[in-house]
Amino acid sequence: MGTTLVTGGAGFIGSHTSKRLLESGESIVCVDDFNDYYDPRIKEDRISKFLGDYTFPVHRISICDFEGLKKIFKKYKIDRVCHLAARAGVRASINDPFSYQEVNIQGTLNLLELSKDNDISNFVFASSSSVYGGNRKVPFSENDPVDSPVSVYAATKKSSELLAHVYHNLYKLNVTGLRFFTVYGPFGRPDMAYYKFTKKILSGEPIDVYNHGKHQRDFTYIDDIIDGVIQSLEKPHDYEIFNLGNSQTVELEYFISVIEKELGIEAKRNLLPLQPGDVVKTYADITKANKMLGFNPKTSVELGIKNFINWYKDYYK
Ligand SMILES: NC(=O)c1ccc[n+]([C@@H]2O[C@H](COP(=O)([O-])OP(=O)(O)OC[C@H]3O[C@@H](n4cnc5c(N)ncnc54)[C@H](O)[C@@H]3O)[C@@H](O)[C@H]2O)c1
Repeated sequence: MGTTLVTGGAGFIGSHTSKRLLESGESIVCVDDFNDYYDPRIKEDRISKFLGDYTFPVHRISICDFEGLKKIFKKYKIDRVCHLAARAGVRASINDPFSYQEVNIQGTLNLLELSKDNDISNFVFASSSSVYGGNRKVPFSENDPVDSPVSVYAATKKSSELLAHVYHNLYKLNVTGLRFFTVYGPFGRPDMAYYKFTKKILSGEPIDVYNHGKHQRDFTYIDDIIDGVIQSLEKPHDYEIFNLGNSQTVELEYFISVIEKELGIEAKRNLLPLQPGDVVKTYADITKANKMLGFNPKTSVELGIKNFINWYKDYYK
């Protein structure tokens, strides 16, 4: 097996993917611009501590730098691409649409173009459950229409799927797009609700609970997501889109109660209305991923949160 380029390798899902690949003896190259959308110290720690036992090249460049990426493809004779770099926050995309367009669309196009030029054997990339927008039909299936995004972020992810389809169609690039459903776990993203809740509950501050805690999410534990990413990398498909979720949707209020129980502290709640761009319910139909990838998530929300809180307490001492 040749070298795998992991974009967003210092990110939450990228660092866990890198770890799994390195553990199985694969050669990787990581590209990440370590931007400060959230505190970049955790990105540094993912590389130096979480992945500290391994030696691999880390390139601190943007995926918008086409010439820089071109040199990396040539230098390491990249064989597979696992494209996880993105501007990833739904709410932030409404305030900063241009960065989302630049990184998620232009950056993805750069990688597709270079994958075509370098005869990449498999291009796996991160899409998102947010492409389902206000879909009312549950669970969400890959066959459902996704033409009504409700955030700029969702529109950029849908655009990535479309661009990737073009590169498959024109150049026979093998492409797999993964629609991740609310991923959580150790070394997670500090901008996500579960992480902020934990921090605030521990410091006695009130937590902002949107939609009065009534919205539902298909929270998916990081190790299960990584199973699906690795399964996709190992088995190229012509062009496929897969939902990767836990397929067990829970109410936000219940999720908070699990965090409270694990911390042994009751949260002070600021109950707020639904935010613009937010969707009320996400719920993955994973029949296709199960059948074609062997994807089979196993981690309950209770166990996943326990693992996260244990990591959090250890990381922040
Ligand atoms: N975490 C989730 O719940 C979730 C859900 C759906 C989809 N996704 C998608 O999965 C992927 C990984 O998400 P994550 O949660 O690990 O987010 P993350 O922000 O932790 O990781 C993304 C990484 O990409 C890097 N990056 C951003 N812009 C870049 C640029 N221009 N050049 C190079 N690197 C850049 C960031 O520095 C970061 O380290 C993203 O594409 C995201 O949209 C995540």
